Amino acid sequence: MAEQEKREEAAEEPAAPVEGETGEALEAEAAQAAEGAVVEERRPARAQREVAPAGPSSAIVVPRRTPGQPVVSRRGILRLGFWSSLGAIIAGGAAAGLDLFYPRGVTGFGGKVTVSASDIPPPGQKKEIPEGRFWLANLTEEQGGPGLLALWWKCPHLGCTVPWVPAFVWPDPTTGAPKQGWYRCPCHGSTYTDAGIRVYGPAPRSLDTMALTVDNGNVIVDTGNITPGGPDNPGRAVRL
Ligand code: FES
Repeated sequence: MAEQEKREEAAEEPAAPVEGETGEALEAEAAQAAEGAVVEERRPARAQREVAPAGPSSAIVVPRRTPGQPVVSRRGILRLGFWSSLGAIIAGGAAAGLDLFYPRGVTGFGGKVTVSASDIPPPGQKKEIPEGRFWLANLTEEQGGPGLLALWWKCPHLGCTVPWVPAFVWPDPTTGAPKQGWYRCPCHGSTYTDAGIRVYGPAPRSLDTMALTVDNGNVIVDTGNITPGGPDNPGRAVRL
């Protein structure tokens, strides 16, 4: 009975801790706490290092725009100015070239030539107009008119200047009778009627004609508007 009471008392008393084991546990716990504090102190610094841009030191870092800083950089403005100036120079040069070569107010051959009413030849006659390089023929009905015809004096064969030869006699192709007075090329003998129709020679066609209008009694010939000659030359004559 007394032995049983002793066992119960021993069970009720708390087990006494071992002195050696308690000191080591406390030291380990303190060391862990200290280590944790150091880790906590180091975390912010590591986080700051992670925010810094990665890559080699030569990498281009684009600075952030701060309020009040202009949107276009100075380099952009200089580049824009350079290309604008270059474009203006090219456009100016092109405009000057066009202005130089654009025909304006052309007079004489290639432009419009005015023959005053007093210089118009009488019916049946023709007149040389050197300024426009043409013959102005005033055709009668027998010559294919009536009307005025501007004949370019350039021979369609090889380009010689064709004169009117009043003394030259050649058979008229419609009647066969000799007729005096023809356009006759001095180079290879091509021969043309009063209306410039080819009747003989190596020329491939009749004399070319120029556009002609009558304005207030004057004749205006557009020497830049040339129609190849043909048998229909008389039909191009313009009445006064
Ligand atoms: S150039 Fe006129 S006939 Fe030859």
